[in-house]
Amino acid sequence: MKDNRDTPDTSPLPRVLWGGRLEEKPEAEAFAFQASIAVDCRLALEDVAGSRAHVTMLGRQGIIPAETAAALDRELARIAGELEAGSLAVDPAAEDIHSFIEGVLTDRLGDAGRMVHAGRSRNDQVAVDFRLYLKRVVPELRGELAGTIRVLLNRAEEYADAVMPGYTHLQRAQPVTAGHHLVAWSTALERDRGRFADALTRLDECPLGSGALAGSGLPLDREAVAKALGFARPTLNAMDSVADRDFALELGAACAVTMIHLSRFCEDLVVWASEEFKFINLAESWSTGSSIMPQKKNPDFAELIRGKAGRAAGNLVTLLTLLKGLPYAYDKDLQEDKESLFDSLDTVKACLRMFRGMMGSLVFNRERMEVACVGGFLEATDAAEYLVRRGLPFRKAHETAALLVRDCIQGGQRSIIERSLGELKARSELFEADVYEALSPAACVAVRKLPGGPAPEEVRRQIGVLRKKLED
Ligand code: ARG
Repeated sequence: MKDNRDTPDTSPLPRVLWGGRLEEKPEAEAFAFQASIAVDCRLALEDVAGSRAHVTMLGRQGIIPAETAAALDRELARIAGELEAGSLAVDPAAEDIHSFIEGVLTDRLGDAGRMVHAGRSRNDQVAVDFRLYLKRVVPELRGELAGTIRVLLNRAEEYADAVMPGYTHLQRAQPVTAGHHLVAWSTALERDRGRFADALTRLDECPLGSGALAGSGLPLDREAVAKALGFARPTLNAMDSVADRDFALELGAACAVTMIHLSRFCEDLVVWASEEFKFINLAESWSTGSSIMPQKKNPDFAELIRGKAGRAAGNLVTLLTLLKGLPYAYDKDLQEDKESLFDSLDTVKACLRMFRGMMGSLVFNRERMEVACVGGFLEATDAAEYLVRRGLPFRKAHETAALLVRDCIQGGQRSIIERSLGELKARSELFEADVYEALSPAACVAVRKLPGGPAPEEVRRQIGVLRKKLED
């Protein structure tokens, strides 16, 4: 066999790793169709890192000469440096990142480059590259989540006492605060942070040494490679190692859940920014205008994040569908996994950053929110609890408060406390003058200081709990 430096490749196709067996090669369009370089070029540094650990191990185990292993490792380190500096560009015509890196190595070192793939298949190689990439990128994404939660918590603290209507069925339900609402969002994002961490723990196993599906007869040291690459341990079973994409499913699901959360938050923002609600004023720099209607200030960022949740949900379905019924072990179908997961990870990252910018700059309209707490009988539950505190069974108290609401609607009053004490007593003798104080929106919020409640002091406690979790 000659080296590529002696025999320049004159075929119209880039060099492939499987040329020997097939005399006829795919046509250019067909070759490009099955190539994955456009997607897996992102794994370049991970591919080099995996190869460095592999060749070092091959040298130590005496599978290749020690000097050759050292030369390969040095060249791979140089390649990584050049890729980072931009002096080596990934060839977009290559089949995939694995053949590209091996090709560069072979161009530069001849037969030494041809030794690198001993005991390895692209099936375990891509599995290790993908996992290494996720071990780098997912912690960054958790950092974006933490940064976003911090912004929400700062705003929650600022608005811990800003009363606003809380909704069920998008109907005014009970008074809460903007702080309570923002801590609700933060709690959901904190769970998302946990989901990404869980997935990372499970994917922290090194598939290298699994070969195509059946390992290798060469005396590879899988423990050493796993350790060198920073994995907790090697994977248990070679066939599972090349077939498994659970980590992509789990992370795809974590991304989808995070995006669904963001879409719900953004829906609230869109509603709140409307003239009808006017609970918030988005910063001008986090809004866009209209090409025809001169007056418009639109919540485009919130809408776009809401819309992008569809991608993450779609990518998860793509991944699930890709794996459904797939025979063991590796199948080329699996090549489709990366595009979907990369897109989900990119989408979550971008959306978290935009959502954070928007949330950090918007202003809640305290007056509008407070005014909105009056008129929907949001105090009715508290009126019932007022009576329960004075000994009335809840079901009777509920009925009394309901009758008072009817009285108000008939009498044209917008709140139970717009009725006179005499009128209230006509429904229940248990009402006293202190009811007027007890049923103001702020009082209704202040009294709900149970763990989880919206009372400002309790919301501040919840903020403290979440802040502490972010530190761990
Ligand atoms: N590009 C492939 C992938 O992403 C790499 C593994 C190719 N293995 C193979 N036997 N064709 O899955």
